[in-house]
Amino acid sequence: MKVRKAVIPAAGLGTRLLPATKAVPKEMLPILDKPAIQYIVEEAVEAGIEEILIITNRGKDAIENHFDISYELEKHLEEKNNQEMLEMLKPISKMAKIYFIRQQSPNGLGHAVGMAKEFIKDEPFAVLLGDDLFYHEEQNCLKSLIDIYDREKKSVFALMQVPLADVSKYGIISGNKVEENLYNVKGLIEKPSPMEAPTNLAVIGRYVFTSKIFEMIEETKPGKGGEIQLTDAMYKLLAFQGMYGYIFDGKRYDTGNLLGYLKTIVDYALRREDISESFKEFLKEKI
Ligand code: UTP
Repeated sequence: MKVRKAVIPAAGLGTRLLPATKAVPKEMLPILDKPAIQYIVEEAVEAGIEEILIITNRGKDAIENHFDISYELEKHLEEKNNQEMLEMLKPISKMAKIYFIRQQSPNGLGHAVGMAKEFIKDEPFAVLLGDDLFYHEEQNCLKSLIDIYDREKKSVFALMQVPLADVSKYGIISGNKVEENLYNVKGLIEKPSPMEAPTNLAVIGRYVFTSKIFEMIEETKPGKGGEIQLTDAMYKLLAFQGMYGYIFDGKRYDTGNLLGYLKTIVDYALRREDISESFKEFLKEKI
């Protein structure tokens, strides 16, 4: 079966970015002039995804509004004959079939993904974390994962190499290298100390799962922080099916903490042709 559906969990409380995220979902914070989640939907669509389920919560209506048509705004722009803005705005509501479901309480990433069971049924599917941005020059990360799934018919997720001092912030794998950038995963350990870590290969926010993951999530008890952890369900899945880890060779940005958010904006601004030169000048002066 083709991977044509994706889930974007975006129901976290974003406490690390409070008070900005008190009324504005962290996924809606701007990375230049686009909200973070739009880049993620664009990445999914570019990888061939046709239907997307976004997991939200009570405070996240702005995400639904962003992917809906904006009748008043479009009418106003039409009256002003502002074609440029219209061409930029109109496609946002037509990028893919986008559905929403609410996670009633923040029971963890595993629980959020589990809410997609009825939507996914028995198809393989992608998961893209709502606060992780992936920038690529060569190949879209999710597309690479889907290509690997198509070939191997096994779950596969993205990895990046992290400094040993940082392993305790991530899920870390052990496994055998089977080809350039591809590991056959043997073990998964959540937030190990540098002494415990079998490798420095960290799991990052793009996955393709077989629908077997839902059974594993259902069997997963609340773990760290009292939340149902996706990593725990992935660990269980390893006992039934092989899994692959793919080292993404682009850049990954964690927009869910203050420094990560700032670095994302600076890098995206430096790549944006219309502002990069003057922004560089500004940075040079400051430094
Ligand atoms: P994070 O732990 O990074 O998000 O979850 P958070 O809980 O919003 O962060 P802080 O610690 O409070 O600042 C990773 C991803 O899982 C989603 C988040 O929205 C994010 O995309 N998530 C997390 C859910 O959808 N539901 C949850 O219960 C927890």
